[in-house]
Amino acid sequence: MTAEPGGPLTVLGIETSCDETAAAVVRRGSGGAPEILAEALLSQIADHRPYEGVVPEIAARAHIDHLDGLIGRAMASAGLDFCDLDGVAATAGPGLIGGVMIGATMGKAIAAAAGKPFLAVNHLEGHALSACMTGQAAFPFLLLLVSGGHCQLLLVRGVGRYRLLGTTVDDAVGEAFDKVARLLGLGYPGGPAVEAAAERASDPDRFDLPRPMRGRPGCDFSFSGLKTAVLHRLHALDTPPDPHDGADMAAAFQEAVADVLTERTGNGLAMAREREPGLRRLVVAGGVAANRRLRRALEDLCAREGLDLSVPPQRYCTDNAAMIAWAGAERLALGLTSPLDFAPRPRWPLDSLEDAARTPSDGRAA
Ligand code: KG4
Ligand code: ZN
Repeated sequence: MTAEPGGPLTVLGIETSCDETAAAVVRRGSGGAPEILAEALLSQIADHRPYEGVVPEIAARAHIDHLDGLIGRAMASAGLDFCDLDGVAATAGPGLIGGVMIGATMGKAIAAAAGKPFLAVNHLEGHALSACMTGQAAFPFLLLLVSGGHCQLLLVRGVGRYRLLGTTVDDAVGEAFDKVARLLGLGYPGGPAVEAAAERASDPDRFDLPRPMRGRPGCDFSFSGLKTAVLHRLHALDTPPDPHDGADMAAAFQEAVADVLTERTGNGLAMAREREPGLRRLVVAGGVAANRRLRRALEDLCAREGLDLSVPPQRYCTDNAAMIAWAGAERLALGLTSPLDFAPRPRWPLDSLEDAARTPSDGRAA
């Protein structure tokens, strides 16, 4: 049975692109209102901690072991059978390809067995629409996506209408936090550990670190030089770094990151306003959005620029399946379903979706 045009849509979402295995059921009301009916998520942090980073092979095995159980739990807690769904959405990229293939194949199998449409969702589109799902944002907005795998600024004008304004030329910002945490012996995942260490700093101004890309036109980012600068400053100490040195360095690193992210976001805002002069909102998503120093810096930027700041609750900032189900429901509402031979992909730039989002009614592109 296919959904009534304009009626409510219930979609199962599957997320397996990194180290979270997750399933969720989301309903999009007939007026477009989001409702999260059920969620089940398993974080693999403990499996990867001994290696101080995500090991793709371990992640893929964990997805295989747990995904069907998590889908069963989400469906049971929503009180639904697969035949009650209007569509099945799965992350089909970008991400660790083993995991992406597992989730996409599972999604296709359920869709095929239940005779429902399949929705191949771009993981970044899930993040981009997460603040809409939590009722905190309406289009258009500037999106700062800061996670372990990404650091991007995007102009988001509507579902499928994304313009990439800037991206990292080397490491993602969360990756930089994780690498610096490793240099400081703070463990994994590094972001929360660096933030906690920074709060213990006795002299946060002691180390003067560079601000890569600051002052350059555009809004690309770079973090690998900052990480190398941390390494050099640590080597230059007279004695092996102790916890006081580590705390001061963590504070200096966090300050440098907050500084460059805020400056680049300011440039991104100017670029976004050239296309969308009435733009009034900044949305921050991704695991690094949890960082309080960064949030304060972005709050100041928003106050100066007359912007509203939206940060989805932490569980929807980090990887989750509700955002995938929601992006799937939004695509389904536009009739943008995917073929069952859709190929999962490790790389998939978000602005390549623009053509697909042209709607037959207005022929409009972003
Ligand atoms: O979005 P996410 O859960 O996973 C993906 O990478 O998709 O982001 C995880 C990243 C990790 O690199 C982690 O160190 C970082 O977010 N992170 C933080 C904080 N909490 C998590 N970085 C800085 N400060 C934090 N409080
Ligand atoms: Zn993510």
